[in-house]
Amino acid sequence: MSGALLKVEDIHVYYGSIHAIKGVSFEVNEGEIVTLIGANGAGKSTCLNAVSGLLRPREGNISFLGRSLTKTPPHRVVEMGLAQVPEGRRIFLHMTVRENLEMGAYTQHARGAAAMEDDIAMVYDLFPRLGERARQIAGTLSGGEQQMLAIGRALMSRPKLLMLDEPSMGLAPILVDEIFQIIADLHARGATILLVEQNARMALSVADRGYVMETGRISAWGTGKELLASPAVRKAYLGG
Ligand SMILES: Nc1ncnc2c1ncn2[C@@H]1O[C@H](COP(=O)(O)OP(=O)(O)OP(=O)(O)O)[C@@H](O)[C@H]1O
Ligand SMILES: [Mg+2]
Repeated sequence: MSGALLKVEDIHVYYGSIHAIKGVSFEVNEGEIVTLIGANGAGKSTCLNAVSGLLRPREGNISFLGRSLTKTPPHRVVEMGLAQVPEGRRIFLHMTVRENLEMGAYTQHARGAAAMEDDIAMVYDLFPRLGERARQIAGTLSGGEQQMLAIGRALMSRPKLLMLDEPSMGLAPILVDEIFQIIADLHARGATILLVEQNARMALSVADRGYVMETGRISAWGTGKELLASPAVRKAYLGG
C-alpha cells in the first residue's frame, strides 16, 4: 500500500462548545509504532476516539486504508481493521479470560472456529499468563493481567491498526516494563500501533515516531529518538 495507513488531517473536535482539538494532523504508516504524548487533558484520548468514530470531528478528515472515515459508524471501523483498547481497559469483568477473547473475535466469525482457536493460541503465546488463566473470571485478574487481556481481546479482531490508550496507566514499574516489552514484540511481528501514553520516556523509546500534544494542538513531532533528545520535550515531559 502506498501512503499512510491512517491519515488525520486538520481535525477539530468539540464537546458542546468546548473546542478540545484545534486542528490536529498526524499519520501512521504500515508497520510503525507512533505515539501521541502530552499532559493530562491535552486531547490524546479525544484524538483516538475521533479515529475510532466514537466522536465526530466538526472539521477536517480522517482516512484509513485510503478511505474517509467521516461517516463510518464505529462497528464498521472495527470491521475495517481498526481496534482500540480504551483508557481503563473495559474488559467484560464477569466473563472468563477465554470468553473475553472470543468476544473480541466477533468480526472474524466468517473465518470459522479453527481460525479463532489459532488466534486464541497466538494471544496465549504472546501472553502466557492469560493461557494459564483461561478459565479465570476477568474481574479477578490483576491490573496488569487485565491490561494484557484488553490488548489480547483487541488482537482477536486481527487489526491492521491497534490503538492503545495509556496501557501502562496504574501499573507497577515491573508491569509497565512488561507491557512495553509486549508492545515491542508486537512491533517486531509487524503490527502497526498508535500508542497514547503519559509515560513519555517509555513510549518514545519504543516508538518509531511521536507527536507531542498540548491543549488540543500538536506542538512537536519527530522520531522517537529526536523527541527523546529534544531539550523542550525533556524539560516538559521527561523530568529534565
Ligand atoms: N465528555 C467530555 N465532555 C467535555 N469535555 C471533555 C470530555 N472529554 C474530554 N473533555 C475535555 O477535552 C480535553 C481533552 O481531553 P482528553 O481526554 O482527550 O485528554 P487526554 O490527553 O486523553 O488526557 P489524559 O492524559 O488525562 O487521559 C480536556 O480538557 C477534557 O476536559
Ligand atoms: Mg486520555
